[in-house]
Amino acid sequence: MRKPIIAGNWKMNTDLSRACELTEELVGKELATRAEVILCPPFISLAAVGERIADTPLKLGAQNMHWEESGAFTGEISPTMLTSVGCEYVILGHSERRQLFSETDPRVNKKAKAALDHGLTPIICVGETLRQREEDEWRGHIESQVKAALINLSAEEVATLVMAYEPIWAIGTGKTATVEQANEVCRFIRVTIETIAGHDAAEAVRILYGGSVKPDNVSALMAAPHIDGALVGGASLKAGDFAAVVNYEK
Ligand code: PGA
Repeated sequence: MRKPIIAGNWKMNTDLSRACELTEELVGKELATRAEVILCPPFISLAAVGERIADTPLKLGAQNMHWEESGAFTGEISPTMLTSVGCEYVILGHSERRQLFSETDPRVNKKAKAALDHGLTPIICVGETLRQREEDEWRGHIESQVKAALINLSAEEVATLVMAYEPIWAIGTGKTATVEQANEVCRFIRVTIETIAGHDAAEAVRILYGGSVKPDNVSALMAAPHIDGALVGGASLKAGDFAAVVNYEK
């Protein structure tokens, strides 16, 4: 009953012309409709990509956002700016933002609240470092990230959002968590959400796995009961690979 999601996070790749070209290439492919497919290009290409996919089932997402609507926040992008170009989703708290750009749990929470207030669905990323995995500390870390992100959100709001489990050691490294590891953490996230927002919200929330998802590992990941989709980085930059991920075998 949870509709799967395949989201492509283009990160800081593609200039405007390549973003348009990649979008055209994707629009030209046969893409299965059993999953919601979301493209998350860089800010400067959102409007152009959004226009190109307006009449297709593809959806538009941003990679970050500020929580205020407007004001003296040089270099930031607001929720209303995102909705004005057709964004429906926004990735929040990606580990690259947390590690490289000082993103904090309280800010992720503010951003999640602002996104929901403006009709955007947040895709909230959580995940442990290699050290936390090796020392078996991932539970405490993930639990605190999830709890901090969801402070002051109603159960109804929590039910609509998307979480992404992205083990930092598996991002862009070619290392994928095993299906068992990924499913175990996604299940743990769901149980954590249940303690905060109740059973119905926990059953409704969609939990994605991200970290070196590729055409050859996506089917096994998608078959796991607690994995509702994939957040795809590197493999989303080639239309053929991304189409193969979207068309994963059931
Ligand atoms: P990757 O990135 O697929 O290149 O590992 C995933 C992500 O960071 O969202």
